[in-house]
Amino acid sequence: MIILAIETSCDETAAAIIDISGRKEKTRLKILANIVASQVNLHRQYGGIVPEVAARAHLEQIMPILNEAFHQARLTKDKIDLIGVTNGPGLITSLLVGAETAKTLSYILNKPLLGINHLAGHFYAAFANLFLAKETLKNKEIFPAVGLIVSGGHTELVLMKNWYQFQKLGQTLDDAAGECFDKIAKFLNLGYPGGPAIAAMANQHKFTTNFTNKNNSREFANKFVNISDIQLPRPMLTTRDFNFSFSGLKTAVLYFLKDKKNSQLTQNDVFISNFCGEVQRAAIDVLISKTLKAARRFDAKSIILGGGVAANQELRKQFKLKIENCLSAEDLAQAGKLKINFLVPPKNLCTDNALMIAVATYFRWQKMVKKQKLPNWQQIKVDPNQSI
Ligand code: KG4
Ligand code: ZN
Repeated sequence: MIILAIETSCDETAAAIIDISGRKEKTRLKILANIVASQVNLHRQYGGIVPEVAARAHLEQIMPILNEAFHQARLTKDKIDLIGVTNGPGLITSLLVGAETAKTLSYILNKPLLGINHLAGHFYAAFANLFLAKETLKNKEIFPAVGLIVSGGHTELVLMKNWYQFQKLGQTLDDAAGECFDKIAKFLNLGYPGGPAIAAMANQHKFTTNFTNKNNSREFANKFVNISDIQLPRPMLTTRDFNFSFSGLKTAVLYFLKDKKNSQLTQNDVFISNFCGEVQRAAIDVLISKTLKAARRFDAKSIILGGGVAANQELRKQFKLKIENCLSAEDLAQAGKLKINFLVPPKNLCTDNALMIAVATYFRWQKMVKKQKLPNWQQIKVDPNQSI
């Protein structure tokens, strides 16, 4: 089956075409085209996404991106069997561009159209990676799965009982983790998007011992505060639920930097690097701890990671380590359980893309065919607050 998918929920205009067949873990996937036009340079000057600017850029980009996708796939439009489009959650004006384009294509080409939840899409990015791998996992090695979707707009823990079914376990009560990184990077003048900027800064002085500029040395920074002692809060780390909160972390950073005696430190690269390391660690500690708690509670066979923040190298590394350590082979053998698999897409599929929407479209289509609820383009409505 040939599927065309369109994604415009935020600031990426994306189209993908896939050739997909088979069922469940036996799904066979061939990527014919996967095109993403990022608007990040456009929004950088504002230090964040401006919805009106994003929608206009989607309008300019959508037709060229679609043409490029068909060109790359070497297909004519009539070869498509099914169309999928992200219809929420996201920015309403951005979502509308993708949805109206998809509806028009569906009408003209007389092909079925499905609306896809963006957050569900992030899960299928990890599955896409699995289907492309030489060896895939068995169903019982994947489900039940606990998934963490962590992006600029969302931080959600979700239980997936099978390939089609999602149950939300918890979410952020205020800022998303990516949003928190973006705001903190703004306080520190590190630019936009903040997540990658903080990660790069955190890595910068990790291994540096020789400093040529005195005012930029660890000794100089330590005159103000012992930088190894800086400890930022880990909000809601020990609460019993599966919710998150990141606004407290952001505020703690703001107050630390507002303090006059610390203000000179923002010019000191060694301090900024260490501070960014601590910001990252604080967010990562909470994200991993809650996810592992959910995995234990629901006896998960796999942990799935998705969303833009999942591109973070330290988060990926720590997740892998903690899954291996907390759930060591002996623990699992004693409990008579399977080992926990960690499913995380490559970095380019963590951030928004249409390939994940195309794979999600296939699974949703299978579910709807089973229920004999075949779609009609007129029923597709966008919902900026759509829940998973
Ligand atoms: O999923 P995504 O592309 O768009 C949304 O749906 O929000 O995620 C964007 C978010 C931004 O907040 C960005 O700062 C963050 O993902 N991000 C990262 C990294 N790459 C992107 N955060 C931490 N480390 C990264 N390497
Ligand atoms: Zn996203």
